[in-house]
Amino acid sequence: MDGKNSQKNSQESISMDHGLDNSANKFKSILEDFIIVRDHNFKLSDVAGLQDAKKVLKEALLKETRISWNGVLLYGPPGTGKTYLAKAIASEAPSSTFFSVSSSDLVSTWLSMSQQLMMHLFEMARAQKPSIVFIDDVDLLCSEKLNTENVRRLKSEFISQMQNSGIGQGDGVLVLAATNNPWSLDSDLLGCFQKRIHISLPDEYARRAMFRLHLQNTTHYYSEENISSFAVKTQGYTGADIILVVRDALMQPVRNVQSSTHFKKIKSPKCCSDSFVPCCANDAEAIKMTWLQISNEQLVVPPVTMDDMIKSIDKTKPSITQTYLEKIIQFSKDFGQEDELRK
Ligand SMILES: Nc1ncnc2c1ncn2[C@@H]1O[C@H](COP(=O)(O)OP(=O)(O)OP(=O)(O)O)[C@@H](O)[C@H]1O
Ligand SMILES: [Mg+2]
Repeated sequence: MDGKNSQKNSQESISMDHGLDNSANKFKSILEDFIIVRDHNFKLSDVAGLQDAKKVLKEALLKETRISWNGVLLYGPPGTGKTYLAKAIASEAPSSTFFSVSSSDLVSTWLSMSQQLMMHLFEMARAQKPSIVFIDDVDLLCSEKLNTENVRRLKSEFISQMQNSGIGQGDGVLVLAATNNPWSLDSDLLGCFQKRIHISLPDEYARRAMFRLHLQNTTHYYSEENISSFAVKTQGYTGADIILVVRDALMQPVRNVQSSTHFKKIKSPKCCSDSFVPCCANDAEAIKMTWLQISNEQLVVPPVTMDDMIKSIDKTKPSITQTYLEKIIQFSKDFGQEDELRK
């Protein structure tokens, strides 16, 4: 996307155009911004865990399946990879056009014309089938705080488009939606999604995979056993929490360099002149100096240590509360499809 400014400019030009003769084209040009250019390096395997959800989504991409259902809701705690997973699925369907729409953009930047945008979105999706329409934060269409006529119309348009492209018609449009607030969806909206998949907190196996993924392009000497111990210590953390932990740990060696008062010379791994690493003041070779006195080429930042990661885990608390988890479990019991997924 070109950013909000270009969207706002297009919005102004539409509202100034009283005749709206070219409105269809203008809506289409706004919608072009929603089409994701696939990142071919981003694959489903970059998403740790969520095996059941991946299985259902892969199944959803099959043409035959779309005849029996075309709406999939991903729900679960914030930071568990719902948006990440939806975008990764785009790379699994190279022949599909992928439209990604954020409901918050629709109800903020585009509110006055959101109903028409929704209509044209589905029109474009049908014209470019097979296609996937991803509606992020879909609960905003039912938000009590945003209970305005425009939002109500937007929701009705979405529901009517879903019914038009409905089951059995095989119009080649798969609608994926995500929410961390599923209990806000009313029964009409919920009814649009024949598959409802709980994207839960990552289990130990998935957390291990996340640590591996997020450390893969960094210099570290963690063994598989070390990584398993991080996964054990982070029960209850989301994927987003684990990213915070890893980023914080990776910054620790840099912070140590910045606060160090003593450095010692070592043979440079890269150039012929000496390099400097931080050391204790009582080290026999310690020289009293700060990192600012050392050139970038000569400064060696030591790799992240076991202690760095443990400290980061201890100071980063899980972001999801027990009350939230209980609410999600109740929602799954009432409206989810856990048993079906396990088949
Ligand atoms: N299963 C996962 N595998 C790899 N990374 C993950 C996973 N889950 C979350 N992450 C990391 O956490 C970040 C946040 O995930 P994402 O935005 O998809 O969460 P979300 O479930 O959509 O949250 P929200 O409900 O707040 O929108 C991702 O960009 C990714 O880096
Ligand atoms: Mg999201």
